[in-house]
Amino acid sequence: MLRTATRQLATSPLRVLLSGGLEPQTARELTVPVETTLAEGTRVVRKLEVFIVRGEDEKLAAYENYCPHAGGPLNWLPDKFLSRSKRHLLCTRHGAHFAIHDGVGLRGPCVGSSLNPLPITVDAETGDVCVSEQSLLDLCANGGGAFIEEEVACDSTDGAAAGGGDGAAGVGAGSPPGG
Ligand code: FES
Repeated sequence: MLRTATRQLATSPLRVLLSGGLEPQTARELTVPVETTLAEGTRVVRKLEVFIVRGEDEKLAAYENYCPHAGGPLNWLPDKFLSRSKRHLLCTRHGAHFAIHDGVGLRGPCVGSSLNPLPITVDAETGDVCVSEQSLLDLCANGGGAFIEEEVACDSTDGAAAGGGDGAAGVGAGSPPGG
């Protein structure tokens, strides 16, 4: 089951993606609402597919869930991004392996290319994984397009579309971005 990152700090441009960190050698996929307002009074909400991973060296990294080989998500099963050895990220579609810490293709059809990174910061006290709003906007603009886009009128009270509550509908792991 996908989880939607919703908690936003009131006075900070940082958004908490994941509270309390992540166990070593595990990954977590997230659907992150990214909202922009157009001049003509319309909000655009992009439900961006990302995942956070923590390797055996304890460091965390986050990437767009988009494989540079044929596009689309890396995983078929929820939160399954690691190779059998858990030392690499794995695209289950054609077996591309990527380095956990920088997303560089190491083996298979993605040698010479990389995953699209999402810069994160980790709160030293809480372990919360945070991301800046600008980084989310940049990934929407420059990534592979792993999002579904909705236009919402500015006076709409559709909280789910705006990512305003826990349990908001996520985008399926198998949903191919961009069609
Ligand atoms: S789509 Fe990922 S290896 Fe082919």
